[in-house]
Amino acid sequence: MSKQLDAAQSMKQLQTDMHWKENIVYEIYVRSFNDSNGDGIGDLRGILEKIDYIADLGVTAVWLSPIFDSPNRDYGYDVIDYRKVHPEYGTMEDFDELLQALHDRGIRLVMEIVPNHTSSDHPWFQEALKGPDNPYRDYYIWRAGDGNGNPPNNWTSFLGDSAWKLDEESGEYYFHTYAAHQPDLNWDNPKVREEMANAMDFWLEKGTDGFRVDTANVLSKDMSFPDTDDTERLQGSGEHFYKNGPHIHEYLRELNDRVFSRYPVFTMGESSQVELEDVEKYTLPERRELDLILMIEASKICDDPQDMWQSKPWKLSHLKDIMRKWLKDLHDEAWIGLYLSNHDHVRMVSYLGDDVNHREQSAKMLAVFLMTLRGTPNLLQGEELGMTNAHFFNTIEDIKEQQALAYYNQRVNEQGEDPETILRRVLKKNRDHSRTPMQWNDEAGAGFTTGKPWQRINPNKSEINAAEQENDPHSVLNLYRRMIRLRRDHPALTLGTYEPILDDHEHIYAYLRETDEESWLIVLNFSRTATQVELPSDVRARLSDADCAICSDESKLKDLSRGSAELAPYAYFVFKLG
Ligand code: GLC
Ligand code: CA
Repeated sequence: MSKQLDAAQSMKQLQTDMHWKENIVYEIYVRSFNDSNGDGIGDLRGILEKIDYIADLGVTAVWLSPIFDSPNRDYGYDVIDYRKVHPEYGTMEDFDELLQALHDRGIRLVMEIVPNHTSSDHPWFQEALKGPDNPYRDYYIWRAGDGNGNPPNNWTSFLGDSAWKLDEESGEYYFHTYAAHQPDLNWDNPKVREEMANAMDFWLEKGTDGFRVDTANVLSKDMSFPDTDDTERLQGSGEHFYKNGPHIHEYLRELNDRVFSRYPVFTMGESSQVELEDVEKYTLPERRELDLILMIEASKICDDPQDMWQSKPWKLSHLKDIMRKWLKDLHDEAWIGLYLSNHDHVRMVSYLGDDVNHREQSAKMLAVFLMTLRGTPNLLQGEELGMTNAHFFNTIEDIKEQQALAYYNQRVNEQGEDPETILRRVLKKNRDHSRTPMQWNDEAGAGFTTGKPWQRINPNKSEINAAEQENDPHSVLNLYRRMIRLRRDHPALTLGTYEPILDDHEHIYAYLRETDEESWLIVLNFSRTATQVELPSDVRARLSDADCAICSDESKLKDLSRGSAELAPYAYFVFKLG
């Protein structure tokens, strides 16, 4: 088949009724993916240069981090123009070319849209600052203080300061869920909803295939802004008054009616603080809101709920509980997206695996895990190479992302805490771990740039890079490609039921994925030591005529079907049951 026919064929496959379930999404953090002009910043033409690499992965969709014009205090999550490509990333022509190149290869393009807030440099906010009578004032949320020089209530933002900032000129405060330079839009204002709908329409008109909707469940707030009792919590206290707020379903349905329903669109909502019933409301198809909610709980497994900068050790039993809830207890027709790392998070192999002694093996085991779960998998660029956290960061100057810097500043400079302790916390968890440049080869610029990279390149590029893994049939990269292919070829791995087994085992994670047509058994050793396992007798019986689809050690099939077997650290097995 010619390449073009092949592409047409794949596009058709993607237009099925369940395309949102069948997608396998590759997150491109544009700034760090590939720099085409040597300014040290990844760009759209850089993505074009790597288009065949992306196609060879086998993913069906690419999600681009925000590419809109922005002062980049939060790297694009602070928009000043929803219809303009940031000059650092290229031009609208570059965008159109990229979109076409992806479509030619049967790959969807999902944009990031940031509907909850703009940059304070956005012309709307600049107008709003002119005073209460300005027509744009009501695009944002303004309140008087409490009369004693305090903000309207006691909520904190996700950067740990008050969620309100005083505008000296008018004496009123405006509300910000994130940084003070990211004022929240007032979604109760129909004009704001119309502006956002039109901005989304603009991209869909161009042929874009959908959106990752940033912070999708925070758009509607309890506008009485009561104080919260949750005063122990350092970041985002008060969030239960605006997550899944009073009109959220109405607003998402409205967006769906106005925009999404008019295109063959794919929408993923980023949402934290959601329970089963919330996700069911957001994603049951007959409710016509979003296609899926990105499940955030697994990636927060090490976070202390009162202070996200403090860590707690994670346990396999907890990970299993999270997955049981979202993969088994969720309504059959509702749907989630799954990820273990993204641009807000540390690297998957560095917290769930062992990136010191078993890096390659644990990265592969996690690849098998992510690609055999029920839900739509999202993988972050570099995950397919087993890229690790930036253990080489050692000073606060190494960090570029605002949340970590704000925490450091508050704790050390404002509250006088021990700089060493705070630095240690921040070095462990900052979001730059996942934002270091892609490691294409072992040259000085890692093949990412010929100039000075905007963020330091991980020195482990000499061992971990795409060029090296390309030709090694046993590389993490080639395992990813095989796993993605397997998932695409076998709908049971996407749509099948999820049935955990050996639930009490401390190290082994095993589950069945089944439809009427096919049954799969996945067995994973989540431990850095060899582990003994005995499968339940009914499962064992079914192994007698099973095939090893993708296994770290094929000889274990016999042992597992007969009785007890010893599995090597981070061993993985995907069995097709007869
Ligand atoms: C989301 C984004 C994150 C951003 C925040 C504010 O959580 O993923 O990167 O900082 O929203 O827009
Ligand atoms: Ca560039």
